[in-house]
Amino acid sequence: MAKEFPLVSIKVEPVSTKFRKLSGSIPNDETIKQIEELREAEPLSMRGQPPVIWDRAHGVNVYDAYGNMWLDFSSGVLVANAGHGAKKIADAIINQASKPLLHTYCFPNQPRIKLTQKLVSLAPERLNKVFILSTGAESTECALKLMRTYGRKHGTDDKSIIVSFENAFHGRTLGAQQMGGSSDGKAWIKNLDPEIVHVPLPDGFRCEDTGFELFEKTLARLGVEADNVAGVIGETYQGVGPNFMPKQYAKDLRKWCCKHGALLCFDEVQAGFGRCGTMWGFELYDVVPDLFCIGKGVSSSLPISGVIGNEDVMDLFGPNEMTSTHSGNPICCAAALASIEVIEQEKLVENAAKVGLVLQKHLQLIKNEFSDVIGFAPGAGLVAGLLMVKKGSKEPDYELAWNVINLCFQKGLLMFAPVGVGGGCVKIAPPLCISEEAVMEGCEVIREAVEEAV
Ligand SMILES: Cc1ncc(COP(=O)(O)O)c(C=O)c1O
Repeated sequence: MAKEFPLVSIKVEPVSTKFRKLSGSIPNDETIKQIEELREAEPLSMRGQPPVIWDRAHGVNVYDAYGNMWLDFSSGVLVANAGHGAKKIADAIINQASKPLLHTYCFPNQPRIKLTQKLVSLAPERLNKVFILSTGAESTECALKLMRTYGRKHGTDDKSIIVSFENAFHGRTLGAQQMGGSSDGKAWIKNLDPEIVHVPLPDGFRCEDTGFELFEKTLARLGVEADNVAGVIGETYQGVGPNFMPKQYAKDLRKWCCKHGALLCFDEVQAGFGRCGTMWGFELYDVVPDLFCIGKGVSSSLPISGVIGNEDVMDLFGPNEMTSTHSGNPICCAAALASIEVIEQEKLVENAAKVGLVLQKHLQLIKNEFSDVIGFAPGAGLVAGLLMVKKGSKEPDYELAWNVINLCFQKGLLMFAPVGVGGGCVKIAPPLCISEEAVMEGCEVIREAVEEAV
């Protein structure tokens, strides 16, 4: 079980910079009391993040109610791409709510009309339809259903195998979790779907064989007939790293899917909306999928997700056969439209590419300085990870990752709890509006924390 961050007051070294302000005890007695009340009424699973009650968040900063301010390297959980609390997004939410129009089920509403058009205009040309949902897991479940339905419609009844990747994460519902590639979260599922199979992700670190033959060899070993594959789903980068596939591998995968009539789906729930320094993460590979899932950064705020694909795929179900109660909620759509507008007008994709270079450079310097305990520091744009390992090995060091995050928290740099294989990854993902100056300050805090923790 993952560790909790202790509810113990720690007298912190006072910090006062442009981006961080801390003083007194963190958490203070009032925070401890309130979190204890929350814990009484919530499942254990909701614990696990550093103990700050978010009072407000703006730009790249998160504030508590006691004058403390953290520099945020989490974007919540890679949601606040346009920055926290962007005024345009908040105004769009307020305007839509005060019309009032809060809910329309599947009856059309103006923000949904505009958002679907906008998303289709941003997607690669032949992907011309979008189905709006609420959560990332819903979008990957939907992709699973579409890939299988398409496979069996255009192939034999056996064309329903879904290929996913080891260590993948696609959400925590039944189908999404089975497509996920870590055994940890699946213990609750007794009858795992035998037609969902996993192949290694050639990240170049834990899987050093980066050739595409490994994909074919693994399917052969698993007894999978290539023509029975309905679809391949992969996170554009695996959240647990972030781990990317080599560009040539992605191109070969695209060719393989075309050859075998399998749909290629990228899960862009994390990678989309500028995170990697490109609007879509798959642009890094020069590959266009048949469908892709979006979520998180689409609105930088309210829950909204979706699946984007070609009409051959998206129109498999008839009227009222593929819907959800909150599909295209007007307020969520208004928030998403405003967020995309901020991302475009403030050139945040370009900023992610430019400032991302500074982030990646500084993290490589930290990795080089502590190379015996940081095994790998992958990243692109404004997403990165430091994979902490037991000295001189590739074995994940969860304790060290946790300590680094905890020390950073006490120094005014906010990151969520460790993720990844064995919990060894310190994940870094600031809002895309961050400046070079703030990135450099955050990296210096990480460097100090690693130095103190080893
Ligand atoms: C790549 C990816 N897909 C799907 C999901 C699930 O999204 P949600 O938590 O909104 O269901 C996540 C969440 O972290 C994700 O990172």
